[in-house]
Amino acid sequence: MKTGLQVGLETSLPPEAALQKQSRWNWQEVNMASRINTRLTDAYGRTLDYLRISLTDRCDFRCVYCLPPEGVDPIKQKAVLATDEVLRLARVFAALGVCRVRLTGGEPLLRKDIVSLVRGLSTITGIEELLLTTNGSRLAGMVGLLKQAGLKGVNISIDSLQRQRFSAITGRDRLREVVCGLQQAVKQSLKVKINTVALKGLSRVEVHDLCDLAYQLPIEVRFLEVMPLCGSAWQPNLGLSLSTVRTWIEEKFKLVPLARHYQPAESFSLQGGVGRIGFIQPLSQPFCHTCNRLRLTADGTLRLCLYAHASVDLCRPLRQGASDREIGNIIKAAIWHKPLGYEVLKNTTNHATLPKIRQLGG
Ligand code: 5AD
Ligand code: SF4
Repeated sequence: MKTGLQVGLETSLPPEAALQKQSRWNWQEVNMASRINTRLTDAYGRTLDYLRISLTDRCDFRCVYCLPPEGVDPIKQKAVLATDEVLRLARVFAALGVCRVRLTGGEPLLRKDIVSLVRGLSTITGIEELLLTTNGSRLAGMVGLLKQAGLKGVNISIDSLQRQRFSAITGRDRLREVVCGLQQAVKQSLKVKINTVALKGLSRVEVHDLCDLAYQLPIEVRFLEVMPLCGSAWQPNLGLSLSTVRTWIEEKFKLVPLARHYQPAESFSLQGGVGRIGFIQPLSQPFCHTCNRLRLTADGTLRLCLYAHASVDLCRPLRQGASDREIGNIIKAAIWHKPLGYEVLKNTTNHATLPKIRQLGG
């Protein structure tokens, strides 16, 4: 093993308890993990087969629950993984059992190489489902190309169907373009979900309008509990309770429960309708015990949990010539440190110090 590599294995943020006393990865641990863990199973028996790859921290929107007023430190352009680097890491993850990949941002459609990335990722052996989460502003013109390249589904963020409120939330008057992207995605038979963050100010009428979309179209509209992932922009009264949203929905629609299959969303079909409704409540109804996700940031950092500072830099070993096997072993050792739940969040009073979704990937 090259000594130069070890420098690249320092955790980039304050590590978890087991790593606290050491500034470098413990190679004994890395080697042991490589022998006993052939798939990505963590210390709590959870199989990690879902990877979210953030392709950029840049975004053309400025959602109130995402971007703090002071902004976030941008990732330096040369630190952002290039096309071939993303593909190489994805191949290593796939060889370890990752079968589902979601591309996120920032806004992933801002990447100029997005179509070749989708094409490359969709042909990797083992990756069965390739999905993308987007703000939808540039989706309309790209859906056909993305589908042809192998994309299976899109999650589109739509927090309001009212133009003014949409602009107030996102900082951009782009609702028309987003809805056009949604229509194109449905037309192309992609698997489509709408993410609606339940913010204070969301009205009964808007909730009904969103449900009407799910009634008429083969899509899932999911209401998300707002989470403190926006630094100093976070306020405890930013969100609207999902029980209120559900009550409003049930005034007009009959929700028929669907099997959950360990999914974060509690999903329902709408009686008489085509699509579905989902509720995602990571804070009030955590699903950490069934979590199967890993996150790779745009600069190649593996993050184990939204709210854990522990991370490992995969970019440096990659750029310093590590083999696939060596990178795989680093990943396998790292996942032992995936926490059981949101420990950091429980012990935090200053939300500004928490990781931010812009940097982590949505
Ligand atoms: N709380 C809940 N959901 C969020 N998202 C972004 N920030 C937050 C937050 N603070 C969701 C958006 C988007 C996806 C990338 O993450 O709905 O669809
Ligand atoms: Fe951009 Fe998504 Fe953040 Fe909104 S939530 S600013 S669309 S990254």
